[in-house]
Parts: sequence; structure tokens; C-alpha cells
Amino acid sequence: MASPVPALEVAGLTKTFTSRKKPPVHAVRNISFTVQQREVVGLLGPNGAGKTTTIKCILGLMLPSAGTVRVMGNDLGREYRQLVRSACAVLEGSRNIYWRMTPRENLDFFTGLYGIPLQRSRPYTDHLLRVFRLEEKRLSQVQELSSGMKQKVAVACALAPRTPLVFLDEPTVGLDVETSYELRETLKGLVKEEGRTIIVSSHDMAVIQDLCRRVIIIKQGSIIVDDQVENLLQLFRTRAYRFTLSNGHDVHLEGAVARQFPGASISRTADRTELEVILPGAEDLYRFVDLVRESGLFIAGINQKEPDLEEAFLQLVRKEAQA
Ligand SMILES: Nc1ncnc2c1ncn2[C@@H]1O[C@H](COP(=O)(O)OP(=O)(O)OP(=O)(O)O)[C@@H](O)[C@H]1O
Ligand SMILES: [Mg+2]
Repeated sequence: MASPVPALEVAGLTKTFTSRKKPPVHAVRNISFTVQQREVVGLLGPNGAGKTTTIKCILGLMLPSAGTVRVMGNDLGREYRQLVRSACAVLEGSRNIYWRMTPRENLDFFTGLYGIPLQRSRPYTDHLLRVFRLEEKRLSQVQELSSGMKQKVAVACALAPRTPLVFLDEPTVGLDVETSYELRETLKGLVKEEGRTIIVSSHDMAVIQDLCRRVIIIKQGSIIVDDQVENLLQLFRTRAYRFTLSNGHDVHLEGAVARQFPGASISRTADRTELEVILPGAEDLYRFVDLVRESGLFIAGINQKEPDLEEAFLQLVRKEAQA
């Protein structure tokens, strides 16, 4: 059996912004990656890394300076109409929906754009209104909704046409903790149920860790990491430790730790010192323990810290900065 066509193939994508008065901005530099159908991939990177530009180029909202993009096998340059039918997006914030229309009208409008007649789109958009808990507000103008609700309408509109590929650029930006959690859970449920291909960009690692199995990290327009979340966590799993030192504090020890173990965090309670350190090799562990021994403090406890994606991300981006 022929293997299914990848949902997305990006090859040598480059975007340089030029203007007469300013030096050129190399927003995206020759990036390539492939996303298989049903994958959920996180697109990470510091502010200005090039995530939104990448997404806009893939969607044909911006003309790339170089490179090719194929969505479900359709080439962006040659088969743009088919490509448009295969992908839908919510871009940074909720500005892509119509604030003077109701959530119901927005959903009908966006499915209409994809040529889906109402009688076919309604069962699914009703379902979306239900799972996003927007039923009560479905007939109020979007401008009268809270920002969290607006965001949910925007995400629902991106999902409504049921395109095989969906881009969610910062779907939880500006949401309170509870609404972000709720939206995440809803997305997780939909991802599981529907098996669509989704590319999510977010600064909220909880969103990425919850939804994605694979992440692509972009920095200054280039891909620095493309790997399974599990592998990235594994890389840091054995290296992060939390030490509890009893019988007091020692400024010399704290200074030495800060100098010798970059990224260490030190906190004090009444008579204890808590140290969190990354110890990449066995010799680092011995070196650390020797420092503690010299200080005269006791090690009352050692925990291997369960690393999270946020920590892995920060380490990877910093490491890249030092390289
Ligand atoms: N229309 C534009 N004209 C000129 N420069 C632009 C334009 N759009 C983006 N840039 C520049 O391209 C670079 C990448 O921006 P982009 O919006 O893709 O970053 P991002 O990774 O989405 O960042 P964020 O996390 O802040 O959303 C930045 O240096 C930005 O200033
Ligand atoms: Mg962005």
C-alpha cells in the first residue's frame, strides 16, 4: 500500500523582509520539515523567532522569498486553491473573526467560505459551540464577549471547516488559567476524536506538553530542534536534581554553586537551603557534593527533579545562544 501523503512538506522556506530605508530582516532562514497526517506538532521559539511568519508563508498569506510548501500534496505555488481548502488557521489572538457578527454567524461564514452548505456544517458547528461552552452566547455579537470567549470562537472557526490541517498560532494567549486549561482539554479531546493534523505555536509550555508529541523549536529563523517531546524530556530527566541542605545557609557555598553551575536556583527557608541544579555528568555530581561537604552543611534530601518542557526549552535555547 502506498504510504499516505504527508500533511505538510516545507523545504528551504526563507522569508526576508526588505524595505528601502531599513536593513533586511531575515525572519525565516531556509527551514525544512515534514509533518505526517494525524501528527500534532508544537512550534516553539522566543519572540521574533519566525513562527508566525512561517505559518503565514505556509498558508500563502505572505509570499516566501524562497522555498516550497506542499499541503496534502498540493504545491503552494501551483495548486493554491486546493491548498487553501486543506488548511485553516487561527492567527495570534482573535482578530481573524468578525466582531460585529455572532459566534453562530462567524461559524456559518467560515464554513461557507470553504463551500460547505449549512445543512452539512451545522451538526459539527453546533458540536463545537457545545464543547467550547459557547451555546449561551451563540447569538450575541462577538464584540460583547469576554476575551477568552472571543478566543474560543476564533479557535472554533479554525476547526469548523474540518480541514485536514489546522494551524493554531497562540490559541491560549491572554486567557486566564482556568479558561486556558479548559480550552486545552477541549482541544485535546478534539485531537483525539478527529485525528487531524495540527500545528500549534504557543509560549505556554503546558499547552504544548499537553497537546503535542513532537516539537520544532525555531530560533532567529532557523530550526534548532525537531524531536519528540518525550526525547527532549528524557534528555533532561537524568540531569535535574533538587538538594535540601539542613542546618543553615552558607553564602560562600551559594556563590560557588551559582558560579560553577549556571542556571542553578537557590532558595532559603528558616534553617534549610534548597538547591536545584542541572548536573550533566557523574563528575558534576561529585563536584557538587564536594562543595557541599566543604561548606559543612548536610544533605538532608536529594530528589531527581521531573523535568518539564519549559525547562528543556530554556536550556536548549540558551545552549544554542552559547554555541
Ligand atoms: N511584515 C513585517 N515586516 C517586517 N518585519 C517583519 C514583519 N513581520 C514580521 N517581521 C519580523 O520577522 C521576525 C519574525 O517575526 P514573527 O512574527 O514571525 O515571530 P514569532 O516567532 O511569531 O514571534 P512571537 O512569539 O513574538 O509571536 C521579527 O524580527 C519581526 O520583526
Ligand atoms: Mg508569532
